[in-house]
Order: sequence, then structure tokens, then C-alpha cells
Amino acid sequence: MRLATEHPRCVLRPWQESDRYSLCAQANNPRIWRWLAEGFPRPYTLADADAWIAHAQDCQKDLTLAIEFCGAAVGNIGVRATASARRGHIGYWIGEAFWGLGLATAAGRALMNHLRAQAHFDYLETLVYAGNVPSQRVLEKLGFVADNARPQTVYKDGERLEARRFFCALRN
Ligand SMILES: CC(C)(COP(=O)(O)OP(=O)(O)OC[C@H]1O[C@@H](n2cnc3c(N)ncnc32)[C@H](O)[C@@H]1OP(=O)(O)O)[C@@H](O)C(=O)NCCC(=O)NCCS
Repeated sequence: MRLATEHPRCVLRPWQESDRYSLCAQANNPRIWRWLAEGFPRPYTLADADAWIAHAQDCQKDLTLAIEFCGAAVGNIGVRATASARRGHIGYWIGEAFWGLGLATAAGRALMNHLRAQAHFDYLETLVYAGNVPSQRVLEKLGFVADNARPQTVYKDGERLEARRFFCALRN
């Protein structure tokens, strides 16, 4: 699978073994770790990269893709089924050197177009920690709406954090 995006130099494609060094270099960053769910490795080692690539290649209904920019894997985007099978949970990150180029927005839009065509999910959701303004902005650009009425509490590395759930309908 190879999904074009609105960004001329950015495509989504499967993770491959040769991405292990690039994945490790980009993901081993506390400024990325900080905003991701408990369990994202820190430090992020080559063994973690190998495990992630193997997991991504093994996904069935879930979809986990590399965000390729100018020929290199610089980030990750994926969707996994939730307890409610018609609702997918979307997650993403971009290597810090590539922030602000519109890549997350382009990747999100391409994935959402693909998911609309596949019709596996009726809704997408994600959880954003308070203070993650860039991610909130990405979600707004993608048409997500925050559930401000029900703030969530999550624990990250023992720290109590506030989070907001964002939703987007994939079907009218
Ligand atoms: C969130 C993240 C994926 C965004 O990636 P990106 O490719 O830089 O995103 P984009 O360039 O598509 O869009 C970022 C938007 O946030 C805006 N932004 C960035 N920093 C901002 C700030 N401090 N205040 C306000 N807006 C900000 C940008 O201006 C841009 O909006 P615009 O197009 O209206 O100008 C990236 O910062 C990242 O990987 N962060 C760490 C991991 C993470 O947070 N993942 C998501 C978990 S919910």
C-alpha cells in the first residue's frame, strides 16, 4: 500500500526493516515521548524500532504506516480498532526536525480518505494531553471536534495529566 498525500514529497507506506535506524533516530526524543500514550519507549532503542516494525507489518484490521518525506521515514500514523469496533483510534507523531511542514495534517487527511473508502470505521477518536497545542491544531484542520464536556485524566510516567478526547465522523 502506498497512499499519496496533499504534500508533494510526503507519502504513507508500510514500515520496512530498513527504516530501523531512521525510526530509532526520530522516535528517541523526549519531546515526542511526552505527548504519546504510556508505553511509548524512552529511550527508544533499535530493539524498540525492530519490534515496532514487526508489529506494523503484522497488523490485520489495524493499520500502521510510515510517514515518508523526501524518501525517508520521518514519522508514524496509524489507526486501531477500539472496544467499539466501528470506532477507530488514530495516533501519529513526526520527527522533530520536520515539525511545522504540514506533514501530520497531510498524513492525517490521506489516512482519513483511505479509511472513508474502506468503510471499516464510522468514527475516529484520539486523546490529546492538555498543552499539546500543535496536535490540537492538526486535529482541528482535519475536522475533529473536542469533547470539552468530559475531560479525561490519564497517567503518564506516574504523572497525572488532563486530556481531551477528539472525535470525527467518517460517514455522514
Ligand atoms: C503534533 C505533531 C504530530 C504535529 O506535526 P506537524 O507535522 O508539525 O503538524 P502540521 O505542520 O501539520 O500542523 C501543525 C499546526 O500546529 C501549529 N502550531 C505548532 N506549534 C504551535 C503552537 N505552539 N501554538 C499554536 N499553534 C502551533 C502550526 O502552526 C500548524 O498549524 P497551521 O497549519 O494552522 O499553521 C508533532 O508536533 C509531533 O509529533 N508532536 C509530538 C507527538 C504528538 O504530539 N503526537 C500526537 C499525540 S495526540
